[in-house]
Amino acid sequence: MAEHLLSTAVHDTLPGNYVRPESQRPRLAEVVTGARIPVVDLGSPDRAEVVAAIGDACRSHGFFQVLNHGIHADLIASVMAVGRDFFRLPPEEKAKLYSDDPARKIRLSTSFNVRKETVHNWRDYLRLHCHPLHEFVPDWPSNPPDFKDTMSKYCKEVRELGFRLYAAISESLGLEASYMKETLGEQEQHMAVNFYPPCPEPELTYGLPAHTDPNALTILLMDQDVAGLQVLHGGKWVAVNPQPGALIINIGDQLQALSNGQYRSVWHRAVVNSDRERMSVASFLCPCNHVVLGPAQKLITEDTPAVYRNYTYDEYYKKFWSRNLDQEHCLELFRT
Ligand code: OGA
Ligand code: NI
Repeated sequence: MAEHLLSTAVHDTLPGNYVRPESQRPRLAEVVTGARIPVVDLGSPDRAEVVAAIGDACRSHGFFQVLNHGIHADLIASVMAVGRDFFRLPPEEKAKLYSDDPARKIRLSTSFNVRKETVHNWRDYLRLHCHPLHEFVPDWPSNPPDFKDTMSKYCKEVRELGFRLYAAISESLGLEASYMKETLGEQEQHMAVNFYPPCPEPELTYGLPAHTDPNALTILLMDQDVAGLQVLHGGKWVAVNPQPGALIINIGDQLQALSNGQYRSVWHRAVVNSDRERMSVASFLCPCNHVVLGPAQKLITEDTPAVYRNYTYDEYYKKFWSRNLDQEHCLELFRT
């Protein structure tokens, strides 16, 4: 119900159903804060170098930041502004969009999967399907007034960027540049506008607990001022510090499968803090529902047999949403 939304109230104490058991808490003091995840300059004229850098990052971290990605800074600022304005709308306005049914293509919700989970997460989120735009935009929020226009522009540009990255990632695996775009079919595109209000007890809960993304590729626009994303690397949680102008790219489960396990869909999480709200906009490129997924033929050899069986995205996605986030990597259920 809409009264579960966090962004409609001020919270002085953390309700009991947000408190993680001691063994599952974020242990913020142990997080590595000074490290940097790989940075790739897409504006570099040396294509081979860009492709190699992306390949290295996908193997080592499953995450990288891109600079000179071609999405204008003004558009990015407008996306962040319109997202914040949305979460500041009055409760009655937000209640109209509330749903906790993951099958809904446009929904304002909270936590992760309120129907399945026992402990909630300190996040509200607006989830939108974005492709084809003309099919979904009419039902997107019409308040704030510039929401549809700003977000549609951003969605188009993110999609283009995603396809450019597909080409580079395909090449970095020794596949045809067109391999991913063609194999993954007429891609769906989803967006999550994540809003993390200030939290009275950040040590006891999460914005989003550790998870991997079930889709193919994620392009994350982070808050430029407030950190919160952390990535598991070498057994430690590493904070991703906001870098002006950068977008964060991560490999989703489908590219881990397609790469036959060479590239990794890495565990990541979002933590909250006590004095500042934080926002992020995650764009997900998702394979077409009926396409058959699994390791690329070319990457299956005698020495590197198929690690995953073939399946459809429909099958995968249903499995993902039928679980809670605190479980094993969903891809483990698709091993050969
Ligand atoms: C996600 C995600 C991280 C963040 O939406 O899948 O990992 O920093 N978000 O909001
Ligand atoms: Ni994620």
